[in-house]
Amino acid sequence: MFYLTTAIDYTNGSPHIGHAYEKVLADVITRYRRLRGDEAFFLTGVDQHGQKVQQTAEKEGVSPETFVRRTTRKFIDLWEKLGVQYDGWAETTDQRHKDCVQAILSMLKDQGHLYKSAHSGHYSVRQEQFLSDRDRDASGNFGPEWGEVVVIEEENWYFKLSEHTTWLTGYLEATPDAVLPAFRKAELLNALERNSGTDLCISRPKERLHWGIELPFDPDYVTYVWFDALINYVSFAGYLATPDAGLPDFSRLWTTDERPVHILGKDILVPAHGIYWLCMLHAMGFSNEDMPRLLVHGWWNIRGEKMSKSIGNSVDPNELADTFGVAALRYYLVRDIVTGKDSDFDVERLVMLYNTELANELGNLCNRALNMSQRFTGGVLQRGGAFTEDDLALQTSLTLATAAYRNAMDEFDVAKGLEALGRHVVHCNGYTERMKPWELNKNPEKKDRLASVLYHLTESVAHATVLLSPVLPHAAIQLAAQLNLPSLVHLKLSDLRWGLLPNGHHIGIPMPVFPKIVLDAVTENPKS
Ligand code: MSP
Repeated sequence: MFYLTTAIDYTNGSPHIGHAYEKVLADVITRYRRLRGDEAFFLTGVDQHGQKVQQTAEKEGVSPETFVRRTTRKFIDLWEKLGVQYDGWAETTDQRHKDCVQAILSMLKDQGHLYKSAHSGHYSVRQEQFLSDRDRDASGNFGPEWGEVVVIEEENWYFKLSEHTTWLTGYLEATPDAVLPAFRKAELLNALERNSGTDLCISRPKERLHWGIELPFDPDYVTYVWFDALINYVSFAGYLATPDAGLPDFSRLWTTDERPVHILGKDILVPAHGIYWLCMLHAMGFSNEDMPRLLVHGWWNIRGEKMSKSIGNSVDPNELADTFGVAALRYYLVRDIVTGKDSDFDVERLVMLYNTELANELGNLCNRALNMSQRFTGGVLQRGGAFTEDDLALQTSLTLATAAYRNAMDEFDVAKGLEALGRHVVHCNGYTERMKPWELNKNPEKKDRLASVLYHLTESVAHATVLLSPVLPHAAIQLAAQLNLPSLVHLKLSDLRWGLLPNGHHIGIPMPVFPKIVLDAVTENPKS
């Protein structure tokens, strides 16, 4: 089983384009793995505890329960709108998750991994963590990224993180795919070298923070939000759950032959996922072979700057989907960023990529193949034979594009996969220009040749429909319906060979699937 998770989103605000990117990427990868014939399970959800939520709820004069219910709804609605189809939904206020967190805490305490100790030091309210001198900037101050910094003296519970860091370094060095892409692993190893001696404070006194999961062995405390949130990857996979809990069978999801993949942004690799989480799993008794792979994606920025509500440059995915359509947004989010690297979010590029690659190239191919088949051969396809060099070149282009697509998608490189598919579409459009089916149609002696050319184009549309389906599932359903072969969307990659469309097949009625987005030059409002 291929078990994929994303980071769970903070519910102290509304979803932004970064959240949408990560969920669409995970959705595309899951759909692709199913296309490959793998069984897949995709878990995502929301991170509902912590000081920020408590504070924002207080400011808004509502209980944290009411507040998170309201914000959680926004995430659920957005995923539905964007066609993000998950198999498991993780909400950290779910009693089953709380039970799992408490069971893990008790187990770790019983096994001597936790201790209580007093600590006095600088504490960042925004990041909900104690700071050390390493966190000071060049001038010796705690920078604005830490928000309000206060001095606190208190007793807390600690996880003996430092006992696992030597193991972690060895594990990372010995496991090539522990962190992807590789340069992120190098970053993590560097951070580990600087950071190996400290333990992790995993509690917050209730007098300061009540909105969290109570420590099972010390009711004056709640669990540190990261310690709670990271556990979602196992709790909602059925770890330590009873069979009647309505959760998956953990042993089927979390396997060594196909290790789980966690998708997360670069900001939460160090220390949360790369250090805390892997060490927590190690303390819980997970072996090296049981460790999840971390797929670390980059950030969408705005003109090179971090997106942020306070700067006012945050991009709302809901608005974009309403304005340009879900297909344009999904396509852009995985097409204009290399998995692992940052990219600049640019609405003009969203429109340009949609118009060029979907409306013009693919849309044109679909439209010509289906329309001309309807007009010139009554919608009946003839596979033909005696292929010309041009036909064979088109077939080779498709084989190469499919192989390149597959290699790229196996490496989680969706942009490269789409590029490969696009190359074949461009090839087909060039073929059409050279073969000129509209000229062939004028000559009754060229009937067979015309049928063969139209078959090559329509067959290419069928393959493109399948390959595009992980990214644009809705468009794939529409195209399959127009090809009069709805079962296309249930095919697997291994079914893809020349001749998907049977000889004598009747296609359906063509309709534009990718209408061009026309921007009004003055108002920048789309006209269609
Ligand atoms: N709640 C924690 C994660 C806990 S996982 C056990 C968190 N939440 S978050 O809402 O701040 O971020 C959720 C995900 O969105 C993270 O993977 C983060 O990297 C990603 N992104 C946040 N802003 C982003 C961009 N501007 N671009 C791309 N992804 C970004 O961290």
